[in-house]
Amino acid sequence: MTEQVSQTLAQPGEQVRRQTAVYVYEAPLRLWHWVTVLCVITLCISGYFIGSPLPTMPGEASDHFLMGYIRFAHFAAGYVLAIAFVGRIYWAIVGNHHARELFLVPLHKKRWWQEAYHELRWYLFLEKVPKKYIGHNPLGQLAMFGIFVVGIIFMIVTGFALYGEGTGAGSWANNWFGWVIPMMGQSQDVHTWHHLGMWYIITFVMIHVYVAIREDIMSRQSLISTMVGGWRMFKDDKPD
Ligand code: HEM
Ligand code: HEM
Repeated sequence: MTEQVSQTLAQPGEQVRRQTAVYVYEAPLRLWHWVTVLCVITLCISGYFIGSPLPTMPGEASDHFLMGYIRFAHFAAGYVLAIAFVGRIYWAIVGNHHARELFLVPLHKKRWWQEAYHELRWYLFLEKVPKKYIGHNPLGQLAMFGIFVVGIIFMIVTGFALYGEGTGAGSWANNWFGWVIPMMGQSQDVHTWHHLGMWYIITFVMIHVYVAIREDIMSRQSLISTMVGGWRMFKDDKPD
């Protein structure tokens, strides 16, 4: 782990404060995060209109092709999301140990649960002093795995099952995911669960973005710029 201690230049009469910066998230992980953000936004908007199409357009559907473009955007973003997710799994194997936090949650460690409980209290404004973490905090890790990873795998599997229904017998999607529709009942059941899954993911995103901004302000450590530049900065309250 690379560690750097930097000193901000003090103005006359100002005390010098120390900041410690640690390199946490490598470039492929950060790229994956923001590509996934764009895909999820595209999938939610296009998916919403697949489920609740706009009022009828005049003329032949094949002429204006509106639903065609919406579905195309959905499938293209679906492919990018799925391929990027496979890339993210690869990076969990070859990347630094923070790249594995998304998938390897130490559920068997009592200490980890205690820390997660502390974070929950901190988020609920019941703790006064924030704890600082180099990687994800335990509660964040739990949400990222339990809601995001599980949710996105569900969306990819059900999405490609529906896609395979369209591309038909013999297509790769139907060969790989054809078992999903009969297992879940029939096509409409998969549509309904896939649709519900969208709200599950949207719930995660709302909490996640709120917490990222809140922690960035309140926890005396950088969050959002860490997912952009890779470095976590720890702000020291006490002047040297
Ligand atoms: C569709 C929207 C989003 C999704 C699905 C999403 C998903 C995720 C996931 C899965 C991680 C874990 C990264 C890893 O370990 O590989 C993560 C981390 C993070 N995300 Fe997002 N994200 C979204 C939007 C955003 C936005 C808009 C922001 C900025 C406001 C943001 C800020 C962060 C930060 C700061 C972290 C790192 C947290 C930490 O260091 O513990 N995310 N996000
Ligand atoms: C964050 C991920 C995703 C979200 C939020 C999402 C959302 C949605 C929604 C809301 C629907 C409409 C369901 C209905 O009410 O009938 C839908 C349909 C569909 N989605 Fe997704 N989806 C996601 C990922 C995927 C992926 C990865 C694929 C794979 C290509 C995919 C393929 C499909 C297909 C084939 C349909 C049915 C299209 C149709 O019947 O015209 N989705 N999606």
